[in-house]
Amino acid sequence: AAAEKGGYPTFMDKEIAEQPTALADTLRGHFDGTAVILDEQRLGDDELRTIDKVFVVACGSAYHSGLVAKYAIEHWTRLPVEVELASEFRYRDPVLDRDTLVVAVSQSGETADTLEAVRHARRQGAKVLAVCNTNGSQIPRESDAVLYTHAGPEIGVASTKAFLAQVAANYLVGLALAQARGTKYSDEVAREFEALCAMSAAVEETLTLMEPVRELGRELANSRAVLFLGRHVGYPVALEGALKLKELAYMHAEGFAAGELKHGPIALIEQGLPVVVVTPSPKSQPVLHSKLLSNIREVQARGARTIVIAEEGDDTVAPFADTLIELPRVPSLLQPLVATVPLQVLAAEIARAKGFDIDKPRNLAKSVTVE
Ligand code: G6P
Repeated sequence: AAAEKGGYPTFMDKEIAEQPTALADTLRGHFDGTAVILDEQRLGDDELRTIDKVFVVACGSAYHSGLVAKYAIEHWTRLPVEVELASEFRYRDPVLDRDTLVVAVSQSGETADTLEAVRHARRQGAKVLAVCNTNGSQIPRESDAVLYTHAGPEIGVASTKAFLAQVAANYLVGLALAQARGTKYSDEVAREFEALCAMSAAVEETLTLMEPVRELGRELANSRAVLFLGRHVGYPVALEGALKLKELAYMHAEGFAAGELKHGPIALIEQGLPVVVVTPSPKSQPVLHSKLLSNIREVQARGARTIVIAEEGDDTVAPFADTLIELPRVPSLLQPLVATVPLQVLAAEIARAKGFDIDKPRNLAKSVTVE
């Protein structure tokens, strides 16, 4: 078993480290010099051109990958995108027809709720594209087309590299739709694809910046709760950070849209409560950045311990950060691919400090095959 972990103490540590490769492997072969290719046999531009609405359906971290991608897909394609928990979608009588694209995201390809959502969507005549990490699993078998994430086998129950690969794959879906619809020229698609490929190196660099996060993890082991705040694409990152902490450290953790702070969550702030803030780039997102900066100041003034995840060189947040975690500068829409990494490491480190089983957290299953 030690050999299987490749020298890492747990599969999760190994899988966190494999994320640059997971991204590169997932993107490889999906751009032919002029166009993004999803599934050559089954979902071409002709099919994509008529799509007028997109649903992403999934559970757990896969659902968060859809929430992240919604920002990019809507921005690039001008198509409405709804992201829904598979368990809600299928019991709700969603409006679907042959011009609806349902993207079913699942690492295992066996999650019961997602599979049932796929069946429901196909019965209604919608086109279903599976984004899946497991060759030949049930969800791709029952879908119209499949885009495989090539994260490799993920053993840790809490998803890490599969999540990053899902985000990248969902972005490919957005680019393919944009080029089919003509909302992006081929040189723009080429540039976005290149930017996506460059994220592999950015994640690699992020992994070298994790020492302060490990230290922080040991310090937070006795905290009762942790809050996560983010805005725009940082909001689903906050949700994913909170999920990791619940799963691994059995700690009460909540992710909030930072703009909602004054509508309730701020009442939770008390002396010493750790609040993790996913901060956008001050250069490319100045308006959102200044809003997050005021949120950081507001929670710090009320006694919170601020843990600020920010772009390197962001001097404006530093004075208000009890702990500052720096990320390499990347395009705004792609920031989740780097910003998620410290949250994974933080959750793993807190769980380690508490002596919990990081690869097999209590009560959880890698793949939930019953409803
Ligand atoms: C379980 C796993 C999560 C995963 C979710 C969805 O809850 O513990 O890590 O995100 O299932 O799984 P799927 O295989 O459909 O992506």
